Amino acid sequence: MLTFPPHILVTGGAGFIGSHSVELLLENNVNVRVLDNLSSGHLSNLPSHPQLEVVVGDIRNSDDVHTAMQGMTHCLHLAAQVSVANSVEDPIGSATHNILGALNVMHAAATAKVSKLVYASSAAVYGIPAQLPLLEEADLQPLSPYGLEKWVDERYATLLGSLHGLPSLGLRYFNVYGPRQDPSSPYAGVIARFLDRLMNQQAPTVFGDGLQSRDFIYVGDIASANMAALFSPQCGICNVATGQQIDLLELIDLLGQLTNCHLAPQHLPAKAEDIRYSCGDNQRLSEWLTIEPKWSLKEGLSELINYVRKPYFAHDQQINRRA
Ligand code: NAD
Ligand code: UD1
Repeated sequence: MLTFPPHILVTGGAGFIGSHSVELLLENNVNVRVLDNLSSGHLSNLPSHPQLEVVVGDIRNSDDVHTAMQGMTHCLHLAAQVSVANSVEDPIGSATHNILGALNVMHAAATAKVSKLVYASSAAVYGIPAQLPLLEEADLQPLSPYGLEKWVDERYATLLGSLHGLPSLGLRYFNVYGPRQDPSSPYAGVIARFLDRLMNQQAPTVFGDGLQSRDFIYVGDIASANMAALFSPQCGICNVATGQQIDLLELIDLLGQLTNCHLAPQHLPAKAEDIRYSCGDNQRLSEWLTIEPKWSLKEGLSELINYVRKPYFAHDQQINRRA
């Protein structure tokens, strides 16, 4: 029986990608329940809304997950330990979130017989690219525990599909940036880190020569892909990427032009777990989900810079969207 409106559990919904996804779902008249332990997410990222319920709990605790899954028709699983570097320093801690926690969510989703599970995988599963842009069928050679954990999640989702008929779509996000990405941790995403340092007149720190490239995608495009994936019949694995790459030195130049803060980077030793080149093929994204990224890097960075420059109390105002 079809329940309307849909009831969607969003794990990690108080985080960066989660909060943008929740906002978009609410705008589309969906009932949302967030499950988040607030380790890197914040309640202040979420609006107060009659169709939103927030449960503070942990995906590593199966009771929390099974309770939160009750009555849900769909699940968007985003909660994770998100840092590649942290997964090298603490692989066991990272795996408890990213493998055991993810398995709790997948098992609960299968038990509750949700109509769709969408979960966050990552470009980190690819590791060393044989060719660019990266196709979903490429060989996977992850360079970090984090990348391996996300690959294991994909395998579990596929297996639970065969064993229990759980329909799932794993989205391999490339490097996501935008408002609400927290720059404060040393493990934060590179755009948030560079911008924070430039705005404080500090030189950006670059690990290695700065010629490593990434495919940066704006968070609004990720929220659109998540929503499309939840209501699409497609199951399997799909990149969420722009198909464009930029290296870190070029990124620093671009940020310098947009902020008018020109500071030469400070170079630190390279990291062994660091992927050298990353750029995703987005043909499947377009075919399966009819999603085309709407924000160029320059537009997305300008939007982010406007947001960062606003006084803190103005941050709960609507963030621009593109239909
Ligand atoms: P984030 O840290 O902002 O969000 C993660 C959220 O999960 C936070 O709200 C945090 O409090 C919550 N959380 C962490 N551990 C939890 C636990 N054990 N139980 C319950 N809640 C928990 O990070 P994000 O960038 O929004 O990442 C969201 C997802 O997207 C993650 O799965 C991440 O691996 C994946 N991803 C992110 C990127 C990126 O560039 N940001 C790229 C690829 C994949
Ligand atoms: C990021 C995400 C990860 C996601 C993956 C998908 C974060 C924290 N990590 O990992 O969740 O699955 O993309 O591709 O959001 N760097 C510097 N200086 C800094 C910070 C970073 O030189 O101050 C370098 C890193 O060494 C790396 C590059 O910038 O070479 C990108 O780093 P980061 O933003 O952490 O992203 P990924 O490791 O690609």
